[in-house]
Amino acid sequence: MNIILLGPPGAGKGTQAARLVSQRGMRQLSTGDMLRAAVAAQTPIGIEAKAIMDRGELVSDEIVSALIDAELLAMGEGTGAIFDGYPRTSEQVGQLDAILARHDRQLDRVIELEVDEDELVRRIVGRFSCANCGAGYHDEFQQPTTAGVCDKCGSSEFKRRKDDNEETVRTRMAEYRAKTAPILPSYEARGLVTRVDGMAPIEEVSAAIERALVTV
Ligand code: AP5
Repeated sequence: MNIILLGPPGAGKGTQAARLVSQRGMRQLSTGDMLRAAVAAQTPIGIEAKAIMDRGELVSDEIVSALIDAELLAMGEGTGAIFDGYPRTSEQVGQLDAILARHDRQLDRVIELEVDEDELVRRIVGRFSCANCGAGYHDEFQQPTTAGVCDKCGSSEFKRRKDDNEETVRTRMAEYRAKTAPILPSYEARGLVTRVDGMAPIEEVSAAIERALVTV
């Protein structure tokens, strides 16, 4: 199964993708994570992407589609893909169609997480993660059980994303409205879209996604 998780910054795409990975053995393909890894490794792509990401703007279609193509090539044929944060422009929609055809895969469902923008700013600005294992936390909604200690690996090192400040988040949302939301009608026309209330508690969002996938 190959699915897209679509929604503005902070909608819960990464949270739900991680749950699908553990529940269904699918693979999360997050272009944001791939780009952040490239920035950390200071590869040519990372050097080009860094300033764009810090401003909250979109990296070029060619770069992100090449990253997705390479990941699918490295994946086993039988493993389902969760596209998290990709595609984000109409050009990327066309590029993903071509990539899937090349890898003999088809797109089964597009899950749109519907959310309230002001709430999203609160979600994003409070978010942090374990610097060692990547487990996600939140200042208000999801603190580690023991303060300052990661529940999953015991590390006491945590980090916050550089683009998780209010000004950059507003730019990321504007980019979503201008370039990403307009791709939805093309997927609707193909009968692929299921809308899920992304403001519901995490467990309920997961259950709604499961219901959408049972019929695939
Ligand atoms: P990317 O990393 O994809 O960021 P994003 O789309 O802005 O999304 P986020 O990762 O911020 O949010 P999310 O929806 O995954 O929410 P999360 O689950 O973490 O992209 C970063 C940058 O890379 C872009 O700005 C761009 O520059 C570049 N880029 C990436 N892909 C690109 C592409 N295809 N084309 C061009 N450029 C690209 O949840 C957020 C918080 O809320 C967490 O703390 C979580 O615990 C909490 N939470 C989640 N769900 C719930 C819930 N139901 N209730 C309460 N809290 C919740």
